[in-house]
Amino acid sequence: MQLTIDKYTKMVAPIDVRDLDLPNAFLTQRLEDDVLRCLRYMHDIELHTICYLRDLLVTSAHRDPEITTFLTFWSFEEYWHGEAIAEVLRAHGEPAGATRVKELRRTRRVAEATKPFVHGLASMVVGPSMTAVHMTWGAINEWTTQAGYAMLAQRCDHPVLAEMLRRIMRQEGRHIDFYAAQATKRLAEDRRAQWLTRRALTRFWAPVGSDVMPEEEVRHLISFLFDGDDGSAMAARIDRRIDNLPGLGGLGLVGKARASAIRTYEGCRPATVSETVSV
Ligand SMILES: [Fe+2]
Ligand SMILES: [Fe+2]
Repeated sequence: MQLTIDKYTKMVAPIDVRDLDLPNAFLTQRLEDDVLRCLRYMHDIELHTICYLRDLLVTSAHRDPEITTFLTFWSFEEYWHGEAIAEVLRAHGEPAGATRVKELRRTRRVAEATKPFVHGLASMVVGPSMTAVHMTWGAINEWTTQAGYAMLAQRCDHPVLAEMLRRIMRQEGRHIDFYAAQATKRLAEDRRAQWLTRRALTRFWAPVGSDVMPEEEVRHLISFLFDGDDGSAMAARIDRRIDNLPGLGGLGLVGKARASAIRTYEGCRPATVSETVSV
C-alpha cells in the first residue's frame, strides 16, 4: 500500500533510542575502527541533509506542495538519524554533532556556496522534468542508504548498534516509499523526463555522500559494507529496483560504483577485498 503524505506526516517522529542507553552501551564492547569510520561518514551525511534540501528548494520541486511537505519532515527525521549516530561517536570519546558539522562546512565553504546556483540553473534550463530527476535520485540515495545500514548492522558485531540501525532503516523505508512513488509516477507520464533522468544518472550519479566526503572515505565505506557475496547481492538488488523504474532499465549504477570503489580501495583491509566483482 502506498504511503500517503497525510499518513506520513502523522508517523514522523525523532528516532527513539532512549531505551538503548547509548552513552553506556559501548563501555564493555567498543566498536571496531572500520565500524566507527563508517559511522563518521553516515553521521556527516545525515546531518548534511539540510544542505541537500537547500539545493532542492531552488528547483521546480518547490512548486509541488506534496513534495515540500514531505521534505519538511524528511529533513527532520534525517537530522535525528545524525544525532543518534552522534551519540554513538560521543560514547567513543569522539567529537560529533555541531562540532563535526561546523568543521565539515568550514572546509566545504566554496563548494557549498555554488551548489544552489548550479541546481537552480539546471532547473531553469530543463524545466519541470527536473523534478523527476531529483525524485529518482532521492529514491536511489534512500535505497543505498538503507542498504548501507543493513550491511553495517550485519558487520558491526554489536547488538545495541544493530538495533539502532534497524530503527533508522525503518524510517528510511518510508523515505523510499515517497521518493520511489514520485519517481515512478513522474517517469511514467513523461518520456522526456525518462530520457533526462537516464542521461543525468549515467553522467553524474555517484554514491550518496561522495560529493561531500573525501574519496578515500567513500571507498572505505563501500568496500567495508558491500564487499563479498552479500554485498554483491545487495548492490544487485538495488540495481533491479532501479531497473523497474520507467525507462531506467540496465543502468547497473550501484554494481559499477561498488566494483570501482572496491578495486581502487587501499585501506586497512586490502587482503579481504574481493578482486573479482560482478558488474
Ligand atoms: Fe537517514
Ligand atoms: Fe532517508
